[in-house]
Amino acid sequence: MGLEPFTPDSTIFQDENVLRDGYQPDTLIERDRELEAFQSALRPVVNGAQPKNLFLYGQTGVGKTLATSMVLDRLASDLEPMVEIDLETIFLNCKSLTSSYQVAAHLVNEFRPPDEQIKTTGYPSGMINKMLWSEINALDATHCLIVLDEVDSIGNDDDILYQVPRANDNGHVDETQVGVIGISNDFTFRDNLSARVKDSLCDEEILFSPYDANELRRILEQRAEQAFHPGVLEDGVVGLAAAFAAQSSGSARQALRRLYKAGDLARDEGTDSVVERHIRAADEAVERDKVHEELVSVPVQSKLTLYALLTLEAEEKLPAKRSAIYKRYRVAAQKIGADVRTDRTVHDRLSQLTLKGFLDVEEKNKGPKGGSYYEYQFSIRTELVREALQRDSRMDELFN
Ligand SMILES: Nc1ncnc2c1ncn2[C@@H]1O[C@H](COP(=O)(O)OP(=O)(O)O)[C@@H](O)[C@H]1O
Ligand SMILES: [Mg+2]
Repeated sequence: MGLEPFTPDSTIFQDENVLRDGYQPDTLIERDRELEAFQSALRPVVNGAQPKNLFLYGQTGVGKTLATSMVLDRLASDLEPMVEIDLETIFLNCKSLTSSYQVAAHLVNEFRPPDEQIKTTGYPSGMINKMLWSEINALDATHCLIVLDEVDSIGNDDDILYQVPRANDNGHVDETQVGVIGISNDFTFRDNLSARVKDSLCDEEILFSPYDANELRRILEQRAEQAFHPGVLEDGVVGLAAAFAAQSSGSARQALRRLYKAGDLARDEGTDSVVERHIRAADEAVERDKVHEELVSVPVQSKLTLYALLTLEAEEKLPAKRSAIYKRYRVAAQKIGADVRTDRTVHDRLSQLTLKGFLDVEEKNKGPKGGSYYEYQFSIRTELVREALQRDSRMDELFN
């Protein structure tokens, strides 16, 4: 059989773009508390005063980027009639930037027109900050808000998160009042910020927690109405997609992917309704993709931690305490000749893996004597973990 004709299909989707990642809905559901804190930190701008610096954090897919762009859009439109205030907003995604230097260099370019871009390597490091200050000083704006999204990728090299929030106080920028909005997907990044960064950047911190099943259902319902034709979704399928996503991660992005994929599967089958079976199949497919995408790139110490859990699982010893996991971890790390890190590192890795939705943690009480401890287990299917680990050749020794 050769190719089939591309024919427009309209029985399932009314507008599938609504389910795509880049789509910006009109309202942010279930985030009133966060929006209020966000707006209150920026309110000084409207009074001509200096905005508070803000740090937003929470795992991926919980609305941080969306909230930021909504709040900034709203601020810009509310400022339109106020001629005495002129706001410049810079949005930089730092995903692929691994140092303060790179962030500064990319910021410089954000201020410059396309034909005056600088090279992002090779300058002495003091110079790059000076270039940044002169770009901001050259602005004809009363305020400048700089958003650094996914800024956790700079790791410990966090000087820029001190420099920019303090640009006015330290006398680098005079006329324009500068505010920074730092956004992180990684909790350990926040905990490890240097003290002076915490002091400067975190005037206000807003935690975005994972969504529960009800919140995800409302988010999906809002999109489903525009995305699908009326009557296509069988009763209960939206709730089921939400429940699966809540169980796996609490991420709206992951929930939307499930619903989109289920619609796709129904369309490929040529049926005209989305039923439970499609959601279940979509859940598996999305979960597999997500795990592969994320696990393949986690640090080797995390992989070894996961491997430790796999060996416990094989002996039906999950959920397990951190001490038990750590013993297995040590053995595995030695076997492949990796650095054997402290219990503390494994603790950090376990927290990180839990936040990413790969593990579940439960607090247990020791009984009348008091004190409590945590037990961990997989929250995703173990074959997925094994598959992802086996793709890393450094782990070969463990699987032979
Ligand atoms: N509260 C919400 N209401 C509606 N859509 C949401 C909400 N939170 C997240 N989304 C959607 O989920 C996806 C991920 O959100 P995003 O803001 O990119 O998350 P983050 O920046 O925290 O990783 C986006 O498609 C976004 O539109
Ligand atoms: Mg984001």
